[in-house]
Amino acid sequence: MTDRVYIFDTTLRDGEQSPGATMNFQEKLRLAKQLEVLGVDIIEAGFPASSDGDFESVSQIAQRASGDVQICGLARCVIRDIDRCWEAVKNAKNPRIHTFIATSPLHMAHKLRKTPEEVLRTAEECVKRCAGYTKNVEFSCEDFSRSEPDFVCKIVELAINAGATTINLPDTVGYAQPEEFASMVKYVMDHVSNSSKAIFSVHCHDDLGLGVANTLAALRVGARQAEVALNGIGERAGNASLEEVAMALEVRKDYYGLKTGIKTEQIYPACRLLSIIIGQPIPNNKAITRANAFSHESGIHHDGMLKHRETYEIMTPQSVGRKETTLVIGKHSGRNAVRSKFEALGYSLDDEQLNQVFDAVKQLADRKKQIHDEDLMALVQQEIYRIPDSLRLRHVSVSSSDAGGVPPTAAVLMDVDGIEKSGAGFGVGPIDALFNVISQIVGREPELEQYAINAVTGGMDALGEVTVRLRENGSSAVGRGNHPDIFVASARAFVDALNNLAKREKEGKRVHSTDQ
Ligand code: KIV
Ligand code: ZN
Repeated sequence: MTDRVYIFDTTLRDGEQSPGATMNFQEKLRLAKQLEVLGVDIIEAGFPASSDGDFESVSQIAQRASGDVQICGLARCVIRDIDRCWEAVKNAKNPRIHTFIATSPLHMAHKLRKTPEEVLRTAEECVKRCAGYTKNVEFSCEDFSRSEPDFVCKIVELAINAGATTINLPDTVGYAQPEEFASMVKYVMDHVSNSSKAIFSVHCHDDLGLGVANTLAALRVGARQAEVALNGIGERAGNASLEEVAMALEVRKDYYGLKTGIKTEQIYPACRLLSIIIGQPIPNNKAITRANAFSHESGIHHDGMLKHRETYEIMTPQSVGRKETTLVIGKHSGRNAVRSKFEALGYSLDDEQLNQVFDAVKQLADRKKQIHDEDLMALVQQEIYRIPDSLRLRHVSVSSSDAGGVPPTAAVLMDVDGIEKSGAGFGVGPIDALFNVISQIVGREPELEQYAINAVTGGMDALGEVTVRLRENGSSAVGRGNHPDIFVASARAFVDALNNLAKREKEGKRVHSTDQ
């Protein structure tokens, strides 16, 4: 058996299904590029039949990907999903169709309302349909961990005979325990007569905090594909995190004896990029990627570290890409320095993009003494990787007040579909005043579901990163804004969310991946 583990990244599909993690088209393309740089083997780019937006982004990612990475689309075991999925991925140099059907008694009876025999027939017909398009077919038994092992063996054998080359066994609801899960996976691999013709994969959710543990346990017994997501995002509690699985295999290669193609020093840039895109800061105590993962507080630990780093550190910050770059960008930096800095951060900008971002860097440098890598990444994200918006903020002016009878006020100047509009008004606080005025100008009344502010970097002049989630008419959308002034950042985030809400409404509702 080979010692190579294939890393199947589902950040753009299962990850995007997590609340508040919606990405726009440009953001998905950017993230897909970074996933390639990171060295993942397969990118699950989306679920093409779920919406026209998903179809378009999967097909664009497929067209742009190099032959080093496989581009996969998800499809239910439904013929029209499979046909649509193939349409979306067929232009990739290395396409894959991933089709799935539920195999647990619970799902078959209550969700699919199909008998086990009907599920077997549907799976066979659908895998054959996929195999008619490509040799690279993945078949998943949804809710595997609550399925009857012998039924799974039957359907897996049939799927391999019908043309599946990867068999995925998910812990869909994060129910399994590591030893139990590993022995279920091993049972299937040992009892399926044609199992040597397929690669076995696992896909573990984190409802009990065991997604990574279950994934690693299955790799120990012979699974050779791990389905993971950056920062562990995904349905409900999320998926097994890519960075944790990859670094466990790397740091403990003595134990696992397995290798991946992940370029570990690209882990932090990839995780940070995702966090900026979806506006969800990486939690402070997150393994591998957050600052605290490498900071030592107690005196005993300091003493140990000073004497020998390995006393309290099992990997270096540099090994996961948390390295300090020496190129400092400021007021006097020229175009070439800015270009090289972005290249070092993993962004290759064309001339037009460089001009766009260069002006924004200069404006930031006027306001801020020290520009950090995170500031630059936030800036490029805001300036470049977004689709044209119908609403554009020009200026805001806010005054706060703690005097009774003098309410906080806001005045806003903005473009609505290219027409300049302005307004002024009050609120219970300055942010409330800002949001009221913007809502009046655009003629909408969204409900503010979430407001969060985060300092991108340290210091009094840190760039404020605001995330808001708005809901209106049954749709919700997230928006982000950055600025050293938190009122401006808040207004930008609010306008961004309104633009995203409008785009979501245009895209129409998506089919959820597990709605059969
Ligand atoms: O969790 C799950 O079972 C899935 C399948 C579609 C693979 O996401
Ligand atoms: Zn899943």
